[in-house]
Amino acid sequence: MPSILITGAGKGLGNELAKIFSSNGWQLYLVVRTIESAKNISQEIETAKVFISDITSEDYESQLQKWLEGDTIDVVINNAGAGSKEPDIHSATAEQLKTVFDTNCIGVFSTIKGAYSSLQKAENGLVINISSRRGSLSMQSSGAAKVVVALTHTVLVRPPKTY
Ligand SMILES: NC(=O)c1ccc[n+]([C@@H]2O[C@H](COP(=O)([O-])OP(=O)(O)OC[C@H]3O[C@@H](n4cnc5c(N)ncnc54)[C@H](OP(=O)(O)O)[C@@H]3O)[C@@H](O)[C@H]2O)c1
Repeated sequence: MPSILITGAGKGLGNELAKIFSSNGWQLYLVVRTIESAKNISQEIETAKVFISDITSEDYESQLQKWLEGDTIDVVINNAGAGSKEPDIHSATAEQLKTVFDTNCIGVFSTIKGAYSSLQKAENGLVINISSRRGSLSMQSSGAAKVVVALTHTVLVRPPKTY
């Protein structure tokens, strides 16, 4: 049975992806932020393995690695994301920017690192990062939140498995 790890599976796109992959016979490893989300998703998909964490928390990467220890992960979808609509220099704050950077860049990086050993166990480990039109360079003037995802290419240029 193929396995997939999805972050931000409590609602929105991540939640829908979880249901689709589950109905296609995948073993789910889901990262959600709250106990309430974990309860809801466990009721919806009984076979899902659920890990509760804020992906920006300090011990997230090590706890994720511990949680996955010994298991194989075929696909990671970095779906959890943060951003604000139409920010400009007047309304945006440094604190907001830090949250966006910590979630969309460091959180993605920590997820890949935490899942790295499990991805290496797969025959063709794959990481999918959900970006945004706002990650496009041509959209920078309107306040891109997702361009930082590109930084994770540093770890993605090499496949998790070496042959
Ligand atoms: N919707 C759009 O129009 C759009 C457009 C372009 C790109 N995207 C990207 O597509 C992805 C999914 O979008 P969506 O519309 O489904 O978003 P959403 O409904 O806001 O869901 C985002 C999910 O990410 C989780 N999350 C956010 N920060 C987190 C953190 N620090 N730790 C753990 N979980 C965290 C949220 O958890 P909680 O449930 O606890 O809040 C939620 O489950 C995101 O990366 C988003 O940036 C969306």
